[in-house]
Amino acid sequence: MKTILISMVASIGLVVAGSTLAADMPAAGKAKCGACHSIDNKMVGPAWKDVAKKYKGDKDAAGKIAANVTKGGAFGWKMGNMPPKGMGATDAEIKSLSEFIAGLK
Ligand code: HEC
Repeated sequence: MKTILISMVASIGLVVAGSTLAADMPAAGKAKCGACHSIDNKMVGPAWKDVAKKYKGDKDAAGKIAANVTKGGAFGWKMGNMPPKGMGATDAEIKSLSEFIAGLK
């Protein structure tokens, strides 16, 4: 009985650790980008993980992403046009979201 309890506690611990490791979209992203983007899946726009791959190894990835998100338009994904600043994101939100996107693996 004691061992069952210990293994139960251990597996609950693993589940909690697993969910904190998985990247979750920041609140601003959910509100202002989430209608068209997800982290893992292509929706109206590309999956943010794929954007991170596109800029892998680029030291200025976050800066370039922020510039594109601010001006909107097409960036070679052939998915259409992105509205400038998504759904009304502020410059500060764009900066932090771009750093988040660039840091995805
Ligand atoms: C109305 C839909 C829509 C919204 C809202 C939207 N996007 Fe996009 N986004 C797109 C589409 C479509 C593309 C792909 C354009 C293309 O085909 O090149 C895209 C492309 C991108 C890219 C790729 C840029 C690159 O350099 O390749 C990034 C990063 C991005 N979006 C971030 C965001 C962020 C951050 C927000 C919220 C502030 C946001 N998007 C809101 C539709 C949207």
